[in-house]
Amino acid sequence: MLMRHSFGFRLAAWYALAATVTLACLFVIGHELLYTRLMHGLDLLNNSEARQLRTRLGPDYANLDLEAIDQRIREVTESASVLFYVNVHNTANNIMFYSHNLNGVTIPDVKGEHRYDAVIPGVGPVRVAEYVHDGLDIVVATSSAQANATMRDYVVVCTALLVAMLLASIGIGYGLSRLALRPVRMIAETARLIGSDNLGERMPVAEVRDEISDLARLLNEMFDRLETSFNQIRRFTAEASHELKTPLSLVRLHAEKLVIEGKFVPAQEEALHILLEEVNYLDRIIDRLLFLSRVDAKVTRLDPVAQDPGPFLRGFAPDAGALVEDRGLHFRFAHSGNGTARFDAKWIRQVLLNLVSNAIKASPANGEVRLASDLDDDTWRVAVEDDGRGLPSTELEHIFERFVRVPGTGYDDGKSSGLGLSICRSILDLHGGRIHAENIAPNGGLRVVFEIPG
Ligand SMILES: Nc1ncnc2c1ncn2[C@@H]1O[C@H](COP(=O)(O)OP(=O)(O)OP(=O)(O)O)[C@@H](O)[C@H]1O
Ligand SMILES: [Mg+2]
Repeated sequence: MLMRHSFGFRLAAWYALAATVTLACLFVIGHELLYTRLMHGLDLLNNSEARQLRTRLGPDYANLDLEAIDQRIREVTESASVLFYVNVHNTANNIMFYSHNLNGVTIPDVKGEHRYDAVIPGVGPVRVAEYVHDGLDIVVATSSAQANATMRDYVVVCTALLVAMLLASIGIGYGLSRLALRPVRMIAETARLIGSDNLGERMPVAEVRDEISDLARLLNEMFDRLETSFNQIRRFTAEASHELKTPLSLVRLHAEKLVIEGKFVPAQEEALHILLEEVNYLDRIIDRLLFLSRVDAKVTRLDPVAQDPGPFLRGFAPDAGALVEDRGLHFRFAHSGNGTARFDAKWIRQVLLNLVSNAIKASPANGEVRLASDLDDDTWRVAVEDDGRGLPSTELEHIFERFVRVPGTGYDDGKSSGLGLSICRSILDLHGGRIHAENIAPNGGLRVVFEIPG
């Protein structure tokens, strides 16, 4: 997986940076130590040469003239001319002696310093040592080219090592961050699986107690609480619906008895009919709520059979046609394709009835309700269309939620509970299928399509 600009990426980058900067600091310290050591070695060399020169000059050197100095040390400086460059001068800075290898050039002086680096024109970089004795300055220099080359090699090697370290630490950091974040990824994967229909799933909790396992444990506890309250709500809906069914049946029974007895004036009879209608409506809502809570509780089981939807639809179409035409509307049915789909005819009939009854409610006078079905190799697709006004695009997904009714869409919602489409969706979920709604064209009616895998 490509590393995103994520926590893992930042972790790897920080690790690589910290490791490389630490190494760079060590190299800088090493550079200083090595340089000091090399220069100290050159200083010791200069020192021994100066000591030899002083011995040659003898104890009375302060009173010597140019010639005498030349006589006493020329030989020494000649024999060491590969290594050392020598100047002797008095306090007035008059040069009294040049070693031949200087070719008359003076070794540069740095005021107040006795050990320093300098560059002699025509010779190159040198390490200089200055010895002051009784008015006579002996200045000895030795080439530092070799030492400088060593320092340059050191810098090249260190730079190469730093680049290698940077690359290696990016690799190691990437590996480490993946390793460290693995439990977090597992938690995220499980969290993605947990939904209202799958609350039993839990995060894996590692054996060892650390921050991550504590987090997983806390999340699991939170999901336990959520699952409990979800179950309580579901149980409440199921139990409440169930409890309401019996008294409602009794109310209906008594009302029907009264209607049959028929001892009422017309106004009272009218009221009784309204009462019965409302009781039936309530009964239907309770049935639907019971169905939904059974699906939620995974109690409802389907009996899907692989079958040709053609005969099933041809059996359903006349019933749908009768319903549609009863409202003065037109009905059109078409089915194409051969093959089988796995479905439970009883429940799919329920879905189709819900969709057709919605289409009827949405249709204008003289409108047409179309049922079109198509079966191909892997999907059975059914669409129910009407000539109504359709829906605002923001509502197309909401209408599958419970108790959602969209006002002002020309939908004749005299007695609607807003549960029909959520039941359709539950039934299709149980079939491993899908359902969605789309506008045929702006203000051109609604098309509700469901698909079931073959
Ligand atoms: N064919 C349609 N055209 C326009 N709006 C529709 C259509 N079908 C559904 N709707 C909108 O979606 C809402 C929800 O539909 P659903 O079938 O879930 O409930 P209902 O038909 O209102 O009530 P119930 O089906 O429970 O009797 C409806 O109230 C209506 O506003
Ligand atoms: Mg409906």
